[in-house]
Amino acid sequence: MLNVTQLQEATTFIQQQIETKPTIGLILGSGLGILADEIEQPVKVPYSDIPHFPVSTVQGHAGQLVIGMLEGKQVIAMQGRFHFYEGYSLEVVTFPVRVMKALGVEQIIVTNAAGGVNESFEAGDLMIIRDHINNMAQNPLIGPNDEAFGVRFPDMSNAYSERLRTLAKEKGNTLNLKLQEGVYVANTGPVYETPAEVRMIRKLGGDAVGMSTVPEVIVARHAGLEVLGISCISNMAAGILPQPLSHDEVIETTERVRQDFLNLVKAIVKD
Ligand code: 6GU
Repeated sequence: MLNVTQLQEATTFIQQQIETKPTIGLILGSGLGILADEIEQPVKVPYSDIPHFPVSTVQGHAGQLVIGMLEGKQVIAMQGRFHFYEGYSLEVVTFPVRVMKALGVEQIIVTNAAGGVNESFEAGDLMIIRDHINNMAQNPLIGPNDEAFGVRFPDMSNAYSERLRTLAKEKGNTLNLKLQEGVYVANTGPVYETPAEVRMIRKLGGDAVGMSTVPEVIVARHAGLEVLGISCISNMAAGILPQPLSHDEVIETTERVRQDFLNLVKAIVKD
């Protein structure tokens, strides 16, 4: 169960460093943390300084909160996130979402690098998440429910806000970006899938597969936040192309499309 004292201590610590109230939260995935460098008048708070915050261990993840202005809006960005495969419980993985809510955030943009399962996708595509499949056999809300933080049985029928998806697609059109839309499947990792698992995911209705996002979105919805999810298709999943998968490819592709990604998220935040 969420530890309310820990939540208050982390929130108070962050509030002491800032004068403003962020209303938009950004969770930046592998290779996408660069967006936080665009935040103006940034206050940077390393995770290691924040009481009860875990420290992320993956290469390509800086590990700090960046709070400031982006496109005229007060934002708080997580430059680097926590993953289940690092050994953290989902309660720990989603703790920063609770902190964002406590700081005043109302909307959250969750991003990730994901493998393309839909064969019409290509590495470098950006995908608006329409819906997800939680394939982690875990849920961050398991345990006693504190009604002060959300209902026992949260509705997930509109987890990814139609309003924000429409806005994202409008901005994508204006910027001349090719945007895909689809279902994100979360596996625990850290292994990439086998070709047989990728065929299974496709049959189940998945378009992209990754190792994050779903726990944060579940907690965000529990907390009443409006959610937009964007996947950067960093590579095709196993069995589609001849070459093996590597984390280097993930980072290379996200670096290649990061200008498109930056422009898209900034245009969305602006409106
Ligand atoms: Cl192919 N699978 C998973 N689970 N996560 C990924 C990925 C694939 N590519 C990037 N992240």
